[in-house]
Amino acid sequence: MDLYEHEARELFKGHGIAVPDAAVVASPREARAAAESLGGRVVVKAQVKTGGRGKAGGVKLAANPAAAELTTRQILGMDIKGHVVRKVMLAQPVDIEAEFYVSYVLDRAAGVFLAIASAEGGMEIEEVAAGRPEAVARIHIDPERGVDAAKAAEIAAAAELPPEAASVLSRLWQVLVEEDAVLVEVNPLVRTASGEILALDGKVTLDDNARFRHARWDASGVDASGDPLEAAASARGLNYVKLDGEVGVIGNGAGLVMSTLDVVAGCGARPANFLDIGGGASAQVMADGLTVVLSDPAVKSVFVNVFGGITACDAVADGIVQALESVHLTKPLVVRLDGNNAAQGRAILSGHAHPLVQQATTMDGAARRAAELAQQGV
Ligand SMILES: Nc1ncnc2c1ncn2[C@@H]1O[C@H](COP(=O)(O)OP(=O)(O)O)[C@@H](O)[C@H]1O
Ligand SMILES: [Mg+2]
Repeated sequence: MDLYEHEARELFKGHGIAVPDAAVVASPREARAAAESLGGRVVVKAQVKTGGRGKAGGVKLAANPAAAELTTRQILGMDIKGHVVRKVMLAQPVDIEAEFYVSYVLDRAAGVFLAIASAEGGMEIEEVAAGRPEAVARIHIDPERGVDAAKAAEIAAAAELPPEAASVLSRLWQVLVEEDAVLVEVNPLVRTASGEILALDGKVTLDDNARFRHARWDASGVDASGDPLEAAASARGLNYVKLDGEVGVIGNGAGLVMSTLDVVAGCGARPANFLDIGGGASAQVMADGLTVVLSDPAVKSVFVNVFGGITACDAVADGIVQALESVHLTKPLVVRLDGNNAAQGRAILSGHAHPLVQQATTMDGAARRAAELAQQGV
């Protein structure tokens, strides 16, 4: 799970890394008030889970509270690389003397963490590494030893960072270990005109496998992905992944759903999502699944692919019929029922005779039909 900058900032602060004072707001009016309490001049920063916000116009200096209000109005709603800005962070402006880059990232090939640091921060580290690889220090971390004072000093020296940056490197390692992160990055870490070392921007990726150890990440309402459809699905306990296509897909069992995605792609269409409603496929789960899939504006048709196993097709068909009573169907639905009690299941759906529901007896046939309907709907 990636964190927002303001969440990363909280973690840094909690581990003794100096950060500028800041406030998070969701409206221009709140921005004005927050800017006042921050001293008037603020940097307005789009909160989206992607980098390069500065270049995209999502980081702007506002000279006073009125300007902060105006700038917040401009930045809210902005689309940065497909991420819509819903909140901004207002941060105290810092008089930057030098910008550095520091991070710890899991080096999967080596099986250990890697410290990456450079005295040329601010821009994307990939760009620095491509142009001047000698300006980027890369040092593996012994997991037994971690980053003690000596290791931190070694990294700082290798990257030609000021010696005062070493304590940030030790603290950042504590963030990684104690928060169970797989990536922590500060870019830029800056030295101010008055000689302070401050983290101005942060990126943290938590290890989802360790989520159960951090109750606050579950309780804080942080959505795992930042995608509103995925957040809505996750709130309903559904196994949903948003994809880029136009054919909505609902199936029972992850393997069946994955092969459904392949078959849809094989018909020249693109699946809009992965959604596994599991073995049970009750009316409620089917209704929840349909609600989420239909709320994706990119979806032009929906393919429901069910193989009756322990849950027989007639029960699934009953579930679909009941779901159609509570969900307003706006797009064509192609249903393929096969397996246990398939004939009874198909009869239930035919009996219901919903004008937007069609049946197909094979997975290929259903995928072709759903692909055609999606093309007609575009
Ligand atoms: N509080 C701040 N005070 C002064 N300058 C800032 C502040 N926050 C960010 N900046 C400047 O804006 C640049 C981009 O901001 P940053 O937070 O790194 O966003 P991104 O990496 O997404 O572009 C930074 O490299 C820094 O030069
Ligand atoms: Mg940055």
